Amino acid sequence: MRVAFLAAECEPWAKTGGLADVVDALARALGAVAGDAVELPIDVFLPRYRSVAVPAGRVTGERLVEVPDPGAGRRAVTTVRIVDLAADGYRLRLVDHPESFDRAGGYYGDERGDYLDNARRFGLFCRAALEILRAEGRSPDVLHLHDWHAAPAVRYVEPGPAAPAVLLTIHNLAFHGWTPRRRVAELGPEWTAVLAPDAVGIDLLGKAIERADLVNTVSPGFAREALRPEFGMGLDPALRSRGDRFFGILNGLDTELWDPATDPVIAAPYSRADRTGKLTCRADLLTRLGMDPSDRGPVLGMIGRLDPQKGFDLLAEAAPTLLADGFRLVVQGSGPAELVGSLRGLAATQPERVALIERFDREMARRIYAGTDGFLMPSRFEPCGTGQMIALRYGTSPIVHATGGLRDTVRDEHDHPGSGTGFVFRHATPDGLLWACRQFAARVRAGGGAWESLLERGMAVDFDWRTRAAPAYLEAYERAVRLRRGVVAGA
Ligand code: GLC
Repeated sequence: MRVAFLAAECEPWAKTGGLADVVDALARALGAVAGDAVELPIDVFLPRYRSVAVPAGRVTGERLVEVPDPGAGRRAVTTVRIVDLAADGYRLRLVDHPESFDRAGGYYGDERGDYLDNARRFGLFCRAALEILRAEGRSPDVLHLHDWHAAPAVRYVEPGPAAPAVLLTIHNLAFHGWTPRRRVAELGPEWTAVLAPDAVGIDLLGKAIERADLVNTVSPGFAREALRPEFGMGLDPALRSRGDRFFGILNGLDTELWDPATDPVIAAPYSRADRTGKLTCRADLLTRLGMDPSDRGPVLGMIGRLDPQKGFDLLAEAAPTLLADGFRLVVQGSGPAELVGSLRGLAATQPERVALIERFDREMARRIYAGTDGFLMPSRFEPCGTGQMIALRYGTSPIVHATGGLRDTVRDEHDHPGSGTGFVFRHATPDGLLWACRQFAARVRAGGGAWESLLERGMAVDFDWRTRAAPAYLEAYERAVRLRRGVVAGA
């Protein structure tokens, strides 16, 4: 099989969230486990944003393609450059169209909001990827589309058994690529044809869910939740309509990138067999933040977007009580002032108890994973989540809301005494979060063998992409190809 990914983010070139980590790590893991099943290297298409640094020595090819582009005015074609790079375990193919991607703002928008021409930008991205593959006579067997940015592609592949099979992976169900009616023409006739006369626009992710051969999301737990109106974000009917063609595959973790035994940033290495280095990491983190390293009271970490999806408001509300209980907080991320304000206040008045790092700092993130005692993920919904897996691997007890991938990856010590790996709360409320933090603190205080073995169990969980996730994707590819070729009638 020949496999091509289409994705708007890929670590380390372009990242705003977990999507980037997954695209990179999965592509590499597939390369490692595919054996003869897949032709290597796998192609990963990514827009060439302004911030993508192209190291000269790694470019393996460059080619211009003429791409049909209804957004280009009269000419209706646009020249796009495809720049190939040898990435770590796959081939990165940058879609270089400066007018679309060489922008001062973010990947999807700027301070004024989403770019108005996103449909054209990502439509062109998909067309360019398909066009170069066609031009090379290398049409893939499987197109693996990630999130709405790749959704336009579902209508650029012809129907029928000769075309590539399409697997759509939903990382974030909250973003649909909504395209208002007046912009649909930029996606071309393939899309105007499906615009109902009375429709106000097109939900690209929704349409891709309907049309892909197979659809998955990034954990079995979220795949079940997404079928319900409370989690389906309006797309639960589309997901339900796909029956067993919609399912979950739990993300893995890049266990080489995230390994406290080899992590070059943290103050001392450690492992499951010998965790003494973790104490050094804790002292280092607290000292850097101006906190007292000799205070044994539990330190909680949180990293990520500080927004309601991530349940940051729950932490903000619970924070005063947590501090009164003797917890200290180390939070890294950024978010709107109305949400972050109260924590800013606490960090200003009690700097020895609260640290707020309002920037995305990769090295500090590693120090937080290694140096805190507990790691918070109070997300209201979480298709999979990465932080909790990293925390487990770094011997930092995760404290998570019982949702999506969080529930699938953390086993609650309260419900399963002696076999848990962390703490799970059922109600996404400040009280729910407080309850779990107190469960955690009670175990930390009791210490002893029970606590040590909880941490060891967490560090022993095997999240390696190569173990389960990558083989599951290979199976999904094979199934998608069978469905596309019509080998399994109606299945
Ligand atoms: C999105 C989801 C997150 C998931 C990630 C990678 O960011 O919100 O839960 O882990 O995609 O699949």
